[in-house]
Amino acid sequence: MRFTTTALVLAGVVLGACSKAAPSAGPVDGAALFREQNCVQCHGPDGSGSNLAPTLHGKQGLWTRETLAEYIANSPAYAAHDERLKEQATHYSLPMTSYPGLSLEQRLALADLVLGMK
Ligand code: HEC
Repeated sequence: MRFTTTALVLAGVVLGACSKAAPSAGPVDGAALFREQNCVQCHGPDGSGSNLAPTLHGKQGLWTRETLAEYIANSPAYAAHDERLKEQATHYSLPMTSYPGLSLEQRLALADLVLGMK
């Protein structure tokens, strides 16, 4: 059972990192992506955080759309030169997932969603 649980957790993390891009027709829905890409699993349904990840509310002064889009694609590379993120990461058991498979448009839609979380 222990192996099964570990395998399922790993599968979840890997799937999160490699999820398929959403269909390209129409405007990208950041809120839908936030659910489909499992952001909710760690950050909570409304982004207010959980024991797995910090709140995403009130971070407007720390990010631009572009830096958020970069971070979402490759969070370890971004966090490597950000002291606040390095320190914050020590409070959580899993690292922030990276989403290199999402298009820039999709990552910008997620960035807009986060920047809208007052
Ligand atoms: C496996 C759990 C997990 C998943 C899934 C996840 N995150 Fe995170 N996220 C974290 C953790 C842990 C941190 C804190 C990392 C740090 O501070 O270095 C974080 C940090 C962040 C931050 C920076 C918060 C700040 O303090 O400035 C943003 C923005 C973010 N995540 C957005 C997202 C989005 C959008 C998704 C989905 C596309 C997502 N996360 C999916 C765990 C997760």
